[in-house]
Amino acid sequence: MQNFINIKDISSKNLRDILIDAKKRKRLRKKFDFLDIDSSAPLKGKLLIQMFEKSSLRTRLSFYLAIKQLGGSVLTLRPDELHLSKGGESIGDTAKILSSFGNIFMLRTDSDKKLNEFKEHLSIPIINGLSPSSHPTQILSDIFTIEELKKRPIKKLNITWIGDCNNVLNSLIAASVKFNFNLTIGCPKDYKPNSSILKWLNKRKKKIAIFNDAIKAANNADVILTDKVISINDKVNKKKKLAKFKNFVVTQKVINKAKKNCIFLHCLPRGSEVDESVFTSKQSKVWQQAANRVHVQKSIILYCLGKLR
Ligand code: CP
Ligand code: NVA
Repeated sequence: MQNFINIKDISSKNLRDILIDAKKRKRLRKKFDFLDIDSSAPLKGKLLIQMFEKSSLRTRLSFYLAIKQLGGSVLTLRPDELHLSKGGESIGDTAKILSSFGNIFMLRTDSDKKLNEFKEHLSIPIINGLSPSSHPTQILSDIFTIEELKKRPIKKLNITWIGDCNNVLNSLIAASVKFNFNLTIGCPKDYKPNSSILKWLNKRKKKIAIFNDAIKAANNADVILTDKVISINDKVNKKKKLAKFKNFVVTQKVINKAKKNCIFLHCLPRGSEVDESVFTSKQSKVWQQAANRVHVQKSIILYCLGKLR
């Protein structure tokens, strides 16, 4: 059994194996409907329990379909219905019950500490469905989408992130080490990536470029990614933060600095960090990106349960 909490804690080989499995599975589903089960039904009889302490559309739906397509089933818990949320039961006891009723647990939470406490007490795998410090399932899926569209391993591509240095970027930074690709970041000077991820990078002697200029960051990019300036439950002065990012909107001018066939990705939901014209352009592959979450989620679940082919 394996957990899937942070990209930095998973080996490059295991991450690559997940992507290889996802590619094979996606190919085999060409004529399948959403709820058709993969022919071998590898997770028949298995239950995924998922809980969202923060809003979610894509992660919720993609985990639902993922386990269903593998032949298993899913139960989505509402945190406000558990004793845990009101302090009426400990994480330890909650984890013990989850472990005796289900096979795998997926949690989206506002607390990295909580994720780790669950990990300590569960005897089933846990998947991080987004935490303040990372969004690993999103980034692994985005690498899948990039390689699918570009038809090349990501290590041969220039990847650029423009905007807030948040949980999604932390996972992208970790992935730049695991998959060995060029990463460039464009962000305001007071909003650089957090020091712990930069220290982690330095230890691994990985260099990334950080510019206080969106146009410079976009130069020669094969892929440009961004995300909302204000993340869910961000406790910041929204007006002030948005003002700081006014020069870090992905506009057509920014895209024009990238390679001609550059693609634009956004994990969604979106805010004002990308112009409508870019978002709806041919170069924008955001819907394919979102749909791929199902395929990669399936292989992540299989990896956690020791059932990758
Ligand atoms: N990208 C993503 O995780 O979307 P949701 O917040 O809707 O799950
Ligand atoms: N950075 C965003 C990602 C949403 C999928 C957030 O944490 O809200």
